[in-house]
Amino acid sequence: MINPRPARLPARLGVLVSGQGTNLQAILEAIKRGELDAAVSVVISNRAEAMALQRAAAFGVPTAVVLHRDYPNRLSHQLAIAEILQSYRVDLVVLAGFDRILVPEFVRTFPYRIINIHPSLLPAFAGTLHAQQEALEYGVKVSGCTVHFVTEEVDAGPIILQAAVPVLDDDTVETLSARILEQEHKILPQAIQLFAEGRLEVIGRRVRIKSQG
Ligand code: GAR
Repeated sequence: MINPRPARLPARLGVLVSGQGTNLQAILEAIKRGELDAAVSVVISNRAEAMALQRAAAFGVPTAVVLHRDYPNRLSHQLAIAEILQSYRVDLVVLAGFDRILVPEFVRTFPYRIINIHPSLLPAFAGTLHAQQEALEYGVKVSGCTVHFVTEEVDAGPIILQAAVPVLDDDTVETLSARILEQEHKILPQAIQLFAEGRLEVIGRRVRIKSQG
């Protein structure tokens, strides 16, 4: 049994982003409302144009841009990111719309200290950046999102929380993505809070949520 928990409270978060950053915004707002006992220590993007960087700056959070094209391979790029995260002594790495597949060396640096949000009910539509489009094309009637621990196998780590949403007949990728995002913005801060409280127990593939207190 593994009981991942922060070294201290508020839990220190390192958030990795590539895009618009609405999940980052949800985390920052949950902290501001006092619903999340955490602090975002640093936001790191592999894309200079990511809107997430502006959202971080608006909350006074330090940011770093580590462009993948500045590095000869995935390993050296991600080791550079790991070094920054370690310099900020983060307790938890949160992948909030990060579009790179993590190398095993990165994952092993933060065992059970990396979580990811994925826009499907895993294990459906794993390993893709187009999970909503694939759900529509497949014709599923229910989709949703999943927060899970990151292990070396992509999108296959122990599941912490999931939320389901209906797929409607007239949905487009945009409308379905928006309905899923609404749920992402709830379960990602909730999962981080459970980690911060030390309430997650990993037993094999299963994550047990300990009751409060
Ligand atoms: C979210 O829908 C997230 O689940 C997805 O990227 C979006 C990022 O949105 N992640 C993946 O597809 C990972 N495979 P955001 O930048 O507004 O938080």
